[in-house]
Amino acid sequence: MQGTVEDVDVPSASDVLRRCRELVRPALVDAVGRLHPWTGEMAAYALGWSDTAGTPEPGGSEGKGVRQALALLGAEAVGADAACAVPGAVAVELVHTFSLLHDDVMDADALRRRRPAVWKAYGTGPAVLAGDALLARAVTGLAGTPGDHAAAAVRRLCDALNDLVAGQAEDLRFEHRPWDGPGAVGPEEYRSMAEGKTGALLGCALALGAVLGGAPEPTVAALDRAGRHLGLAFQAVDDILGIWGDPATTGKPVHADLHRGKKTHSVLAALAGGSRAARELGTLLASARPTDAAAERVASLVEEAGGRAATRGEARRHLDAARDALRAAPLTRTAARELDVLFAGLADRVM
Ligand code: IPE
Ligand code: MG
Ligand code: MG
Repeated sequence: MQGTVEDVDVPSASDVLRRCRELVRPALVDAVGRLHPWTGEMAAYALGWSDTAGTPEPGGSEGKGVRQALALLGAEAVGADAACAVPGAVAVELVHTFSLLHDDVMDADALRRRRPAVWKAYGTGPAVLAGDALLARAVTGLAGTPGDHAAAAVRRLCDALNDLVAGQAEDLRFEHRPWDGPGAVGPEEYRSMAEGKTGALLGCALALGAVLGGAPEPTVAALDRAGRHLGLAFQAVDDILGIWGDPATTGKPVHADLHRGKKTHSVLAALAGGSRAARELGTLLASARPTDAAAERVASLVEEAGGRAATRGEARRHLDAARDALRAAPLTRTAARELDVLFAGLADRVM
């Protein structure tokens, strides 16, 4: 995208993410250090800090740290110092790590960020426990936030966790729903599932920053809304990458969603089109869960029936809604621009 004179001093999304990771890192290391050594080792592996032998792998498979960045920017956006949001940033990063760890068990996904998923590397029981440990540490750490905002922050995190779990429940139940007919998953059901499993924590990250920065409730709510729309855009992109992504880039196998009968946006949108390709797709999906060869055919038919384009449109609409929600809130100029850059960078993964 062509930069304008106004944009000259706005850092790139990766600069913003790096700055935030550096600010949060000591507190995150401290939080992981408080875990039992065994769960701590699995947590360090899940965070991409070390290999299965516990040997440090600096920067090896570390995540982008989107949620911790949103928490810090949420505080800066309401005129507070980023430092006050560090406990929130640690909490959302730990919750995110916990949720991915358990999600890979639920989805039977053996690969995450180019490495064996924690359950593959350590076993399912230990992986479940490591997730529990991360969740417990996240809530404990946030509850210990100095100042007057700890209770409100914990309440928000717990609300988001309940939404995340409900979203995951819907995601898993949808695997057993038919692709068409009265039992099919409708667009509103998809949206509610995706907002729960992915949007709630992104909204919470931004909102926590604002809560810890002492912002009034309407501003907190606007940031939460922005993060939820960002999550819907992010999930739409994730759905696209699950069908057409390059495993070398995503670090996850392609077509896993198709094999499991996941009700992803692109397939649902393709089927709703009613074209010849959509009818062929419907017949193919109704016969059996696609094998490797059939998954290639399914992917082509989804594309031909307009599913990929529809999901890009969905991502674009939610990105616009997220940016609108930001613009409607009284935010400081620099942080609002950094958030905008970050939002665009995340949705741009495939656009
Ligand atoms: C994960 O959703 C949502 C949570 C971890 C709560 P997905 O299952 O769609 O995400 P990936 O593709 O495994 O990352
Ligand atoms: Mg998954
Ligand atoms: Mg999942």
